[in-house]
Amino acid sequence: MKTQRLAVWLLAGAAILLFDFFIVKIPKSIESPFLSPGAVNFARSWRFRVVASPEGRMTPQERRGKQIYLKGSSPSGGAIQAIIGDSSSEVPAVTLPCAGCHGTDGRGRPEGGVIPSDITWKQLAKPYGITHASGRKHPAYTDRSMARAITDGVDPAGNPLAVAMPRYSISRKDLDDLIAYLKRLGEDQDPGLTESSLRLGTILPAKGPLAEIGQAMKAVMTAYFDEINAHGGIYHRKIELRVAEPGDTAAATRENARRLIEKEEVFALVGALIAGADQEMASLIQGEEVPLVGPFTLFPEGSFLLNRYLFYVFSGLKEQGRALADFAARKLRIQAPRAALVFPETKIPLDLVEAIEEQCRKSGWSPLERIPYPPGRLESAPLVERLSQGGTNAVFFLGSWEEGKAWMKEAATRKWTPHVFLPGSLVGKGIFDLPLSFQEKIYLAYPTLPSDQTPAGVMEYRALLEKHRLSTRHLAAQISAYCAAKILVEGLKLAGKELSREKLVVTLEGLYELDTGLSPRITYGPNRRIGALGAHIVAIDLQKREFIPAGEWIGLD
Ligand code: HEC
Repeated sequence: MKTQRLAVWLLAGAAILLFDFFIVKIPKSIESPFLSPGAVNFARSWRFRVVASPEGRMTPQERRGKQIYLKGSSPSGGAIQAIIGDSSSEVPAVTLPCAGCHGTDGRGRPEGGVIPSDITWKQLAKPYGITHASGRKHPAYTDRSMARAITDGVDPAGNPLAVAMPRYSISRKDLDDLIAYLKRLGEDQDPGLTESSLRLGTILPAKGPLAEIGQAMKAVMTAYFDEINAHGGIYHRKIELRVAEPGDTAAATRENARRLIEKEEVFALVGALIAGADQEMASLIQGEEVPLVGPFTLFPEGSFLLNRYLFYVFSGLKEQGRALADFAARKLRIQAPRAALVFPETKIPLDLVEAIEEQCRKSGWSPLERIPYPPGRLESAPLVERLSQGGTNAVFFLGSWEEGKAWMKEAATRKWTPHVFLPGSLVGKGIFDLPLSFQEKIYLAYPTLPSDQTPAGVMEYRALLEKHRLSTRHLAAQISAYCAAKILVEGLKLAGKELSREKLVVTLEGLYELDTGLSPRITYGPNRRIGALGAHIVAIDLQKREFIPAGEWIGLD
């Protein structure tokens, strides 16, 4: 609950302050004079046969089989082992589930030059049998020959299957369950998809402190999808957007999202405001295997166990912190750097602190001094005394803006002016009123700046706002939602007409330097889930009272 509130506060701050920043620099053209302020406001068809709908109407046996297929674990708790190659070495099937190679739709994902067979029943049970590209020939599969393929690695003609296909040691019951599911594989189309519609979901508040931001995001995505639909949709599917409310707690948000996914059967989520529920949402979508594109948050989940289904647009605080540290070390050439990291204990996640430390270490700086303080109770005088006497000449500050201003003023009166590094989202009013002795010593990180916008991108966006009579309030949040929707639409187009969640994930993973027009170019990869991974560093000119871009984009590959 506490972190929820903090994140909401940070996010509101980020959105509002970024917005201030945008007002300073945004090209005039994006402000529309016409708008009053606050005017916000496969039907399995390609199989030519109707089968019972997915999930819900699968039999219990098929559902058990699905678990074995996707996860490699037995619903009855029995052991399932995979035997690899000719060797007798066995690993638990959870590390080698069928779906890992054959894909959640059974159509196979080429890997390391080996192409797993299309194992949809429609394919395997063709009455005249199959001749594979490799020349291997066999009659149609039956339950029995399928069981032998799985346990003995031979096809119905008795040909051995390539060694890349493991053999499985599995109980009779689990094998029956698995085969029951294999017959549904591929027909079991992902939810939210018909011949003529594609249902997406998002989580945006209509009430509470973030309601205005939530509604601005919803309006922009709705307008964008309306445009796509007006131009025929995506492969003739019209996009529908279902919106759920976040909850008061992270657990409640998770529950609302779960309902959206399961009851409303949305195919994918887009542009959801999940601040404060990051971990809960990440684990939910991982478990449900539903792609989520462009969640709006300051804390992208960046654990080393990558969440395949999460695609962020912008860097969060952690990446901004890393970019600052990288910039400080590589660009500023501070003599004999002695750096400290001042942060409110318990409010700032430890991995953010560690990320900055790690980046400084990589840059060859001596270890950062950690200075945690009880939230809301930073005492400027002792802090300044301690740091100045210790010869500190670089300070990373992650506390509240009021506290930040207070200690910097105190520092100036004592003629101690270290370099100061902050995420831009933590900075508030009065930045230009800081003592002049901090001239060009304060550096801020931003995940995106107006300079990322292309003229064409701005024009397209402006036209959308005008046509749908949307205001530019909460522009930063709007742009985030718009980019999320655009990236998802691009992924859907590239994934093709025969769509599945799995295909979408694989396609998004392959996006390279996508130009949204309003953000840095978006690139994902097998180990990369933040599209615009990095940050801009901006210096403050206290004399001219303006922001000065302090160099190039700091990428964090
Ligand atoms: C490590 C990757 C991998 C895993 C895991 C895997 N397979 Fe395979 N599978 C393959 C490859 C590669 C082939 C193609 C073999 C060939 O062409 O000789 C194959 C072939 C098959 C075939 C033969 C189809 C045909 O063309 O005759 C069946 C059936 C099959 N797999 C089912 C399964 C099932 C069921 C599971 C899970 C219990 C599974 N596979 C797990 C890689 C895998």
